[in-house]
Amino acid sequence: MGTQIVIGAQWGDEGKGKIVDERAAEADLVVRYQGGSNAGHTVVVDGTKYVLHLIPSGVLQSNTVCLIGPGMVVNLRELLEEIEELEKLGIDHRQRLKIARRAHVLFPFHQAADRAKEQRRGSARIGTTGKGIGPAYVDRVSRTGLRICDLDDRLRLEDHCLARLEAFGLESGARAQDSAKQIAAEYYDYYQQLKGLLVYSPEFLQTAEKQGKQILFEGAQGAMLDLDFGTYPFVTSSHPTVGGAGIGSGFPAAKIQTVTGIVKAYTTRVGEGPFPAELVGETGDLLRKQGGEYGATTGRARRCGWLDIPQLNFSVMLNGFTELVLTKLDVLSGHSEIGVVTGYLSGGEPLAAYPATVGELEAVDVELETVPGWDADISDCSQFDQLPRAAQDYVRFIEKKVGVPISCISVGPGRKQLIKL
Ligand code: GDP
Ligand code: IMO
Ligand code: MG
Repeated sequence: MGTQIVIGAQWGDEGKGKIVDERAAEADLVVRYQGGSNAGHTVVVDGTKYVLHLIPSGVLQSNTVCLIGPGMVVNLRELLEEIEELEKLGIDHRQRLKIARRAHVLFPFHQAADRAKEQRRGSARIGTTGKGIGPAYVDRVSRTGLRICDLDDRLRLEDHCLARLEAFGLESGARAQDSAKQIAAEYYDYYQQLKGLLVYSPEFLQTAEKQGKQILFEGAQGAMLDLDFGTYPFVTSSHPTVGGAGIGSGFPAAKIQTVTGIVKAYTTRVGEGPFPAELVGETGDLLRKQGGEYGATTGRARRCGWLDIPQLNFSVMLNGFTELVLTKLDVLSGHSEIGVVTGYLSGGEPLAAYPATVGELEAVDVELETVPGWDADISDCSQFDQLPRAAQDYVRFIEKKVGVPISCISVGPGRKQLIKL
């Protein structure tokens, strides 16, 4: 198997959680390397649905060690809640959960700042998850953040909270001092609860590699939400793309052998921002209904559209996918025709590059092709040749257009609903 990574190839929610869970059965270690609780990764095991936000989706495999990597911004309150929730559901994982000492701490003031900023943006809002991700990464990049390993100094923690509450313009004077005391006490307590789980990520991963352990990196969000290469500014504040894994873990990205892009059989996006393949109206509503396209973190309705080949080709360029997993193919059953965006045009000419600005992307004319659909329910298929001919053709059509082999097809949320090719 070797070292591998699973990355969302679109705008997130491609079904990464399900695929990571499946692959984790053979991985010794699953590592999240970016993002925070903006992620919502769903895994369905024997009819029970688990939604992971901070803990890697490998946690449901009883022998897999899970690392919250140094590139993440971690809301410790939510982490402890997630730990407890899993325990209540009978998932014994405390011995298997590790947290990188260098991971940044996401505080309540980051969340308050995220929400306040979105309100100020008004109609120009990004549509963030409201989880504080942007402000936490701002603190990291501005070198004004605190990492988990910095929480052992309570006075420093309190001073820090006061300074940040004031700097974000949230509170001042005696009120800010009271809040800072309270947050510092709370977070110092969280640190005491979690410090037994801390590791030095680079050494931890190097040791695992030397011992021949199988390492699996789990991306959150998707390539089109990448801070640099996504639809800026309608992006998240981290790097879901393959390069993010090295920076966000301390493990050399060049050693990753298998780069798997998770591709939903159509496209969804939650939050604001350009979406060339979007279907506004009946077909989009139908995809949302059939696919249960509501956010796993915020419950928001996801915007839906057909598969977008130029977008996928750009994602392949950014990540160098060695294989793709196609998810939610079952959702397309019942459409007599399936649309696919196969080109972006400007003034009738194909674009030379994927647009860098929102204006350009919103102005593209999309080239839409249709392929025959199928009626049969495919959620019980376990072999490629059990799929209706039209579904097989759709898979081959995507492979051809994107130029990367599809190694696996997901035909339902359950662990076993997979077709390996
Ligand atoms: P992630 O963020 O990429 O892990 O994806 P989410 O969990 O946010 O969203 C994917 C949703 O689709 C979840 O509700 C999954 O249970 C569900 N899902 C995953 N794969 C399939 C599939 O092949 N078919 C269907 N119908 N649902 C799926
Ligand atoms: P998973 O890991 C889909 C989107 C938000 C918003 C933008 C910025 O489940 O695929 P943020 O809170 O990160 O500052 O919001 O990014 N977004 C996601 N969309 N899936 C996700 O995660 C997302 N995480 C963030 O909706 O548009
Ligand atoms: Mg999700």
